[in-house]
Amino acid sequence: MQTIRKVIIPVAGWGTRSLPASKNIPKEMLPIYNKPVIQYVVEEAIKSKISDVIFVTNRDKSVIEDHFDYNLQLEGVLERAGKLDKLQTVREVAEMVNIMSVRQKKQLGLGHAVLCARALINNEPFAIMVGDDLMFGGTPGVQQLIDVAMTENMPVIGVMEVPRDKVNRYGIVAGEEISPGVYRITDMVEKPAVADAPSRLAIVGRYVLTPDIFDYLEKVTPGVGGEIQLTDALQAMAKERGMIAVKMSGIRFDAGDWADYLSANIYFGLQDEGLRYDLLDRLKQFVQFQ
Ligand code: G1P
Repeated sequence: MQTIRKVIIPVAGWGTRSLPASKNIPKEMLPIYNKPVIQYVVEEAIKSKISDVIFVTNRDKSVIEDHFDYNLQLEGVLERAGKLDKLQTVREVAEMVNIMSVRQKKQLGLGHAVLCARALINNEPFAIMVGDDLMFGGTPGVQQLIDVAMTENMPVIGVMEVPRDKVNRYGIVAGEEISPGVYRITDMVEKPAVADAPSRLAIVGRYVLTPDIFDYLEKVTPGVGGEIQLTDALQAMAKERGMIAVKMSGIRFDAGDWADYLSANIYFGLQDEGLRYDLLDRLKQFVQFQ
C-alpha cells in the first residue's frame, strides 16, 4: 500500500454530549489540561507521519482551523513582553501540519462527512480519525493501523474490547483472529442492541482505508438514527474485498464522556511535574470529603 499522507478528521457534529460546555465552543476546542482536544488528535497524526489534515467542518467550527494557524497579534504581544517560551508554544501549533477543510453542509452522519472529503483525497489510501477518541501510550494510535495496512496491503480499522452493556454505543465487528490481536472481519454492525452484538470488539474511531470506500459510501442508504453510517459502507466493502481489524493498545479516552474527559485532564495534569503534587493533594482532599 502507498504511504499514508492524509487524514480526514470529521468535526462537524453538534457535540450534544458535551452541552452546555459546547453551546458556543466546538467540543473539539474544549481543553484537556492545557491543549484543546483536537490538538491531541492532530499530534497523534503527526507522530504517525501524516502530513496533511483534512477537517470536515461546519459554519460554526472555523475556530478549529484558526487554532492551527498563526495569530500574529498574539505573537506580537508575547514577543514584546519577552514571553518567548509562550511565543514558541503558539507558533509551534501553527507550524505543525498542513490544514485543509471542507464543509459538511448538512449533518447527515459520519459516512456522509467522510464522503464530503472525497475531492481532497484524490486516489490514494488515507486515514480517518474521529475527533472524540483520544489514544495515548506506546505506538501512536493510527500508526498501529498503518503498520498492519502496509504489511497486509488491506484496509484496517482499530478496535478495542468494551463491556457488553456498552456495545450499543459503537460499531461492533466480528472476525477470525489470524494472528494475536489481528482479525479478518466477517461481520460489522453499527450500534447493535446488546443481545444482537456479534462480539465486544468496538470500532474506536481510527481507520486506514483505500479510496474505493467512497464508491461504497455513495451507494449506502441511511442506517441507524437515519444517518449515512460509515460502518455500513465498511461492511459492504469488507464483504467484497476483505478488511482487517486490529486490537489497539494504549489508553483511550472518549472526550465526549464526562468521566473520560475529566480522567484525561487528571492524566495529563499528573504528567506535569510542576503540577503533580498539588493536584494529588487536592484530589486526596476531595476523596476525604466524600
Ligand atoms: C462513530 C462510529 C462508530 C464508532 C464510534 C467510535 O460513532 O459510527 O462505529 O464505534 O464513532 O467513537 P459516533 O460516536 O459518531 O456515534
